[in-house]
Amino acid sequence: MKATRITCAFALAILAFPGLAPAQAPQGNTGAGASASLTLTPRQPEGPYYPTQKLADRDNDLTRVGHGVPAQGQVLVLSGRLVDERNTPIPSARIELWQTDHRGIYMHPGDSGTANRDRDFQFYGEASTDEAGRFDFKTILPGVYGSRPRHLHAKIVPQQGPVLTTQLYFRGDKRLSSDGIVRRLGPTIAALLLDPEQRSPNEVHAQVTFVLRGN
Ligand SMILES: [Fe+2]
Repeated sequence: MKATRITCAFALAILAFPGLAPAQAPQGNTGAGASASLTLTPRQPEGPYYPTQKLADRDNDLTRVGHGVPAQGQVLVLSGRLVDERNTPIPSARIELWQTDHRGIYMHPGDSGTANRDRDFQFYGEASTDEAGRFDFKTILPGVYGSRPRHLHAKIVPQQGPVLTTQLYFRGDKRLSSDGIVRRLGPTIAALLLDPEQRSPNEVHAQVTFVLRGN
């Protein structure tokens, strides 16, 4: 991938995203033993903005299009793992990610602001899980729109079995408690909450584990 992992830890100055909670341990499922039964990742609506057209560049680095200049916004490095409920890695699955730019605009004809989108942002990307079920994206913190909390859309497409469509949110976002789509999740929202950790003045890192039903 084009994403470059910045490993030096800067102070946890929450500058560009004051709504962030302090960094916490990655969400829950990763430490389970092989015999444990993990909670399946809850589904969420696809929403109206799944891309109708995809750019030629649809790799896992959404922060630039081709060799263009970087998109605006704070960089988010998302590291993930895809497993079944027995914590067995699921390799060779396609992970799709789509989202707004830093101002909350989608690349989609249904978004009235789409003409003013950041054309240096890729909006949609794909990653493939490796033998350990791992995948990575480099993107930006999505801007908010309407009354919805800040979120990323994801679609998990395994080689076998049903597709899982869901959304990822950010712990500490004040919009979570009033969002109807989130409230329907009840306590299972925990599996979809990211805990971004500030790694540099313009870069946060977060982890997620997706759990699909095994075949
Ligand atoms: Fe959305």
